[in-house]
Amino acid sequence: MNINTQLIQQSKIDTVDFNNLNFGRVFTDHMLVCDFKDGAWQTPSIMPYAPISFEPSARVFHYGQAVFEGMKAFKDDNDDVFLFRPDENFKRLNKSGERLAMPPVPENVFIDGLKQLLKIDNDWIKKGFGNSLYIRPFIIATEGAIAASPAEEYKFIIICSPAQSYYAGDVRVIMAEKYSRAADGGVGYAKAAGNYAAQFYPTSLAHKEGYQQIIWTDASTHEYLEEAGTMNIFFRVGDKLITAPNNDRILDGITRKSIIQLAEDNNIDVEVRRVSVAEIKEAANNGELKEIFGSGTAAVINPIKGFKHNSDAFELPVLKNSYASLFKEKLLNIQYNKSNDNHGWRVKI
Ligand code: COI
Repeated sequence: MNINTQLIQQSKIDTVDFNNLNFGRVFTDHMLVCDFKDGAWQTPSIMPYAPISFEPSARVFHYGQAVFEGMKAFKDDNDDVFLFRPDENFKRLNKSGERLAMPPVPENVFIDGLKQLLKIDNDWIKKGFGNSLYIRPFIIATEGAIAASPAEEYKFIIICSPAQSYYAGDVRVIMAEKYSRAADGGVGYAKAAGNYAAQFYPTSLAHKEGYQQIIWTDASTHEYLEEAGTMNIFFRVGDKLITAPNNDRILDGITRKSIIQLAEDNNIDVEVRRVSVAEIKEAANNGELKEIFGSGTAAVINPIKGFKHNSDAFELPVLKNSYASLFKEKLLNIQYNKSNDNHGWRVKI
């Protein structure tokens, strides 16, 4: 496809300490930008990563018309670069956009544009388990108007950030009793910017108590566990893996669905069903609760060390052969081209 390309004069890559990356703070030399105006997506451009300007009245600032994705690129020992299930991100971005009345981004702009961007910024993708390039595609409403209605102008942008781990240190969670992330009929399933901002305040209260995240419960009863702020959630009770089903409150996580598939491939019993706070507390009390872990592109698979609900706090056992480490290893082996890719998830750039 036709992409206007303007390359930087001098790369900033030598100023970056790739062994000490703070997640999401450093960006590669280039970004992709594509404008929607006059009812159509225009020719995309790859240009130097730099501030962009638009009207202070742009609807994104006032009405939150913004959706995004999270993806990663991986480099193998032969310097080949791979994406993981990019078609899923493409579909989900447009599903989120549809919910916020945004025009769908064409597949070639997303996929071909991203591949081209990764070829240009290839040196920013470092080899080795744990190193990756985090990719953030997003759409924002840029048309200036104080009018609470869908914009007629948008920007689709892809920026990239070299990444190591998202969470440094242990993660403990609080199960939500008062605040909610999403409600039936709302935008919980969409990767809408506001879904995240709405969690900041309750999560900051959790931080004050020494917890890093909240596991959100259903908004109407607060009895069923749904997802955490940046991750979907899995519970291992005995040898069984349990996770909440997708619905219009829960993000259809790509890492989540990959784990469910990997569990089935490895003959691990998976139950995709409502999971109650009461049953998890009971399983913790009787020693049946072996693990809780979160999954997401940024976080990969993150063990939860402990949780709190009401005034009851629990610590989880440290397992030698945890499901979290099994799935993480299997996932990383596929992502870094170290094992067979039986489901066709790896896409070479
Ligand atoms: C991701 O896991 O890629 C996400 O988009 C979550 C984000 C809050 C870092």
